[in-house]
Amino acid sequence: MTGISATPNSGPDPLVERRDRAFGRGAKLFYDEPLHLVRGEGASLFGADGRRYVDMYNNVPCVGHAHPRIVDAMARQQATLNTHSRYLSEPAIALAERLTALQRVTESAVFSCSGTEAIEIAMRMARMATGARGIVCSDHTYHGNNTVVGALTNLPAGDKRHADVRSIPFPETLRPLVPGLTGEALADAYVARLLAAIEDLKAGGQGFAALILCPILANEGLPDIPETFMAKAAALVREHGGLIIADEVQAGYGRSGTWWGYDHVGLTPDIVVTGKPMGAGLPLAATTAKRAVVERFRAETRYFNTFAASPLQGAVGCTVLDVIKEEGLVEHARTLGAELKAALRQRLGLTPGLLDVRGKGLFLAAEFVDADGNPDAPRAFALVCALRENGFLTSVDGAFNNCVKIRPPLVLPREDALAFLDAFDRVTAHA
Ligand SMILES: Cc1ncc(COP(=O)(O)O)c(C=O)c1O
Repeated sequence: MTGISATPNSGPDPLVERRDRAFGRGAKLFYDEPLHLVRGEGASLFGADGRRYVDMYNNVPCVGHAHPRIVDAMARQQATLNTHSRYLSEPAIALAERLTALQRVTESAVFSCSGTEAIEIAMRMARMATGARGIVCSDHTYHGNNTVVGALTNLPAGDKRHADVRSIPFPETLRPLVPGLTGEALADAYVARLLAAIEDLKAGGQGFAALILCPILANEGLPDIPETFMAKAAALVREHGGLIIADEVQAGYGRSGTWWGYDHVGLTPDIVVTGKPMGAGLPLAATTAKRAVVERFRAETRYFNTFAASPLQGAVGCTVLDVIKEEGLVEHARTLGAELKAALRQRLGLTPGLLDVRGKGLFLAAEFVDADGNPDAPRAFALVCALRENGFLTSVDGAFNNCVKIRPPLVLPREDALAFLDAFDRVTAHA
């Protein structure tokens, strides 16, 4: 496959060699030929090769690259005052008030600087609130990269490496846990695995503190799930004295066409974790819960985080909320996402190897299989590389890495979405 880079077919890119020395070889790069980007604006990214690419990967600056209001808020606050959190300052308080009001189910916030930190805080909060240690997660999840949170990453169901963590098969209708089961019966089969995990943690003396899930199962590949699973799982968790932690790091902030992923699945979480888009690039994450849960955590830890809950985080975080609201981005993600998904679904049965198109809002997955119906990860990767050559930046996703992940900024113009469909047709025309 021919690639487009600063030095096409002329030996190793000198910047790649510098990077390998500077970072140490092994720091992952996207695509078969690395892409060197130099500028961003809205949904567009511009390469050192002089080309414009549409950002269909995004995640962090969901309000668009270099949004003038975010740039202005960041510069103004930095030029006025930026301190740690042990002085009275209005912007961070305002952000906590606005965030919890939007979430409806939470009251107070602990700010931090990454999703990993915020998830670890959530786990500690749940353990303090319940007096138990056991956490249950899905078997194809990612919630962060430190030792405690990393224990949840892709932990196979039944794996007992970590005494206080158990995973359960993630719910899905495409490849049901018990072949042939659907609806209520399938939901019950997954919930039975949750019960077994809870009982195992209790039998091992860890007790049960929380179930942690991304409500739209982003890292699991956005599967469609049995409709009643979340409600049944939540009831079971509560029956066993546990809390529900909703990881909204990817699902939240309008990404899925509603403010929160839990709005889609009928889940009322006890603890909510937000991150990535919160600061549009400024490191900013939050763990929110009822005031009593947060105050217990504060009393037991005296938690302090140097760069968190600062006036800068507050000012930028509030401006991100303003932009999403005033530009109607949640509604835009909902309507344009629905249009894009419907258009891609029309290709089912026509596009070679396309097995499924799913997702919510502007967060979609297109899953590919080979002629025998097996997950086709090489094809998905080849398509992602070909889409990049056509000017659209995506990546692979899903439990088998056989999905093309489509997650543009919430400001994606409709004409870029339509152009993406043309590019999708071009690159998928052949199996
Ligand atoms: C669902 C989810 N939770 C948490 C994290 C961790 O966030 P961070 O990379 O900011 O630590 C990620 C990162 O990809 C994520 O996808």
